[in-house]
Amino acid sequence: MLSIPFYKPSIGEAEISEVVDCLRSGWLTTGPKTKQFEAEFARYIQHSHAVAVNSCTAALHLALEAIGLKAGETVVVPTMTFAATAEVVRYFNAIPLLVDCRPDDLNIDVGHAAERIEFALANGAQVTAIIPVHYGGQLGDVRGISALARKYNLHVIEDAAHCCPAYYRDDSHAPWKTVGTGAEISCFSFYANKTITTGEGGMACTESQEYADRMRIMSLHGISRDAWKRYTSEGSWYYEIVAPGFKYNLTDIAAAIGLHQLRKADQMHRRRTQLAALYSELLSDMDEIILPRTMPDRIHSWHLFSIRVKAGVIDRAQVIAELRKQASAPASTGCPCTCILTIARHWATNLPIVRARPRFIPS
Ligand SMILES: Cc1ncc(COP(=O)(O)O)c(C=O)c1O
Repeated sequence: MLSIPFYKPSIGEAEISEVVDCLRSGWLTTGPKTKQFEAEFARYIQHSHAVAVNSCTAALHLALEAIGLKAGETVVVPTMTFAATAEVVRYFNAIPLLVDCRPDDLNIDVGHAAERIEFALANGAQVTAIIPVHYGGQLGDVRGISALARKYNLHVIEDAAHCCPAYYRDDSHAPWKTVGTGAEISCFSFYANKTITTGEGGMACTESQEYADRMRIMSLHGISRDAWKRYTSEGSWYYEIVAPGFKYNLTDIAAAIGLHQLRKADQMHRRRTQLAALYSELLSDMDEIILPRTMPDRIHSWHLFSIRVKAGVIDRAQVIAELRKQASAPASTGCPCTCILTIARHWATNLPIVRARPRFIPS
């Protein structure tokens, strides 16, 4: 029987020898390779600052800490996402306000977000931020989100876990912009199945020196910045803990993999784009499913090729069971946050699109 793995990272000799080099150097934790990875990632993704951490979840947590999210405040989160996007809001005892997605690209529905914000404000909520997710690797309504953020005075933190790389432009005459351009901080994932990987890892990117400094400090126990160099000849033995921080730093072993993954990012992106075109062609005559499409003025990273199963025509669970039988495929299904019990029980109401359209998503 054909066996299709859940993911197959593209790891070559370059990654392997860089890891060996790291092991031989004796410097395993955050050090020169992490610094180099941050600099090269910032250049590639076209942002001024990149702070390397050990997951996108950590990056999102640090981003919300940097903007000063407080207990009891409300943060707008799309429903079609992985649990991490809403879970980090709960770390602060803040409240995720789940909003529906657009059927076309499964990204946040700005109109529904506005309705939910109005309702929340009318009920005394303090809505302070929004975390747009660019689902599967395609940027959503960036302009609409910026307008919403201006109107309601919201911080914008992008969950760009699927987006290395992804681009958008305002119209066909406008210049292309990189993911994160519309956000104060954008957060990337290098988990094993992502477009580039370090095994586990993440990056928080920003144009703000202040946010970058705060996230860097909080990613390592709140140790004051100068103390980063304390193990080198330039560094001082003295350091201060300026706030109770976290242990989120990326290791040099992981960064060694990331450095070479990054250098292959464009090549891997071209290959995924070809595969997406091939899947679209081969599946085009299946009436039971809706294929993903690239929206105008978007360059999709194609992290996910998400098909939607037509409700009432074919049953999602049946499709997955059949695929598993025929191809031993560990099908990956996108479970909206509303399916996650602890989140759904408290915050998910009135989300017709995610409720009405079950979907099946091979990665
Ligand atoms: C949209 C989204 N956000 C955040 C995450 C969390 O990423 P990480 O595993 O790097 O913490 C994921 C992981 O799959 C994701 O899909």
